[in-house]
Amino acid sequence: MRHFVSIAVVVHAVAADYQWSYDQDVFGGPDFWGLVEKDWWMCKKGRLQSPIDVQASQLLFDSSIKPIRIDKLGVMSELVNTGQMARVRIGNSARKPSVNLTSGPFYGYKYRIQRIDIHMGRGTENGSEHTIDGRRFPMEIQLISFNTDLYANFSMASKSPHGLAAVAILADFGPTTNSELAKLTTAVPSIRFQGN
Ligand SMILES: *[C@@H]1O[C@H](CO)[C@@H](O)[C@H](O)[C@H]1NC(C)=O
Ligand SMILES: *[C@@H]1O[C@H](CO)[C@@H](O)[C@H](O)[C@H]1NC(C)=O
Ligand SMILES: *[C@@H]1O[C@H](CO)[C@@H](O)[C@H](O)[C@H]1NC(C)=O
Repeated sequence: MRHFVSIAVVVHAVAADYQWSYDQDVFGGPDFWGLVEKDWWMCKKGRLQSPIDVQASQLLFDSSIKPIRIDKLGVMSELVNTGQMARVRIGNSARKPSVNLTSGPFYGYKYRIQRIDIHMGRGTENGSEHTIDGRRFPMEIQLISFNTDLYANFSMASKSPHGLAAVAILADFGPTTNSELAKLTTAVPSIRFQGN
């Protein structure tokens, strides 16, 4: 059996829930996201727009950035097929406990994880959204979070400076896995259709 091990992390910002697609023939794919919705004009003009191909030779190591801290805490959640990806929706009412991201490259802000997006390919296809030196990985797990120090909720934060933080974890096959990760990799293929 093949197991997933996570190997790399990048940080980027994301758009809201909407009918966009990676498929070049449906809504036109990433090249056309900027035309699908006026709030997404950056997808057309931006030069740091996902999906990003990380060029390893261009990276600079920043020794001032501390490791990202993720709270270890059980929270209510559900796994759904959005039609575009598998998503773990976290029960995020203000009163419920929340898992926060701190430290790392977050300028001292605290970000609350709102959802976890899981990009996996069908069958043997590699499904990561981002690539490193052109290489697509079998799986990408994105922790999508919003700044609770500055904003009351995700929708406010998604339109505002320092509003969202997304941590993307690229996963590859390896000899051992993490038992929590294995729960996701076995659950995702069981939600085959939108709404499951
Ligand atoms: C996460 O941040 C929220 C809002 O500041 C706080 O209420 C909550 O206790 C934090 N969670 C943990 C596990 O510390
Ligand atoms: C897909 O992932 C496998 C396993 O990591 C890797 O060997 C292969 O090069 C990847 N394929 C592409 C097209 O990136
Ligand atoms: C988010 O917060 C803003 C400002 O406090 C409020 O106007 C808006 O209704 C909230 N949206 C949601 C979805 O709760």
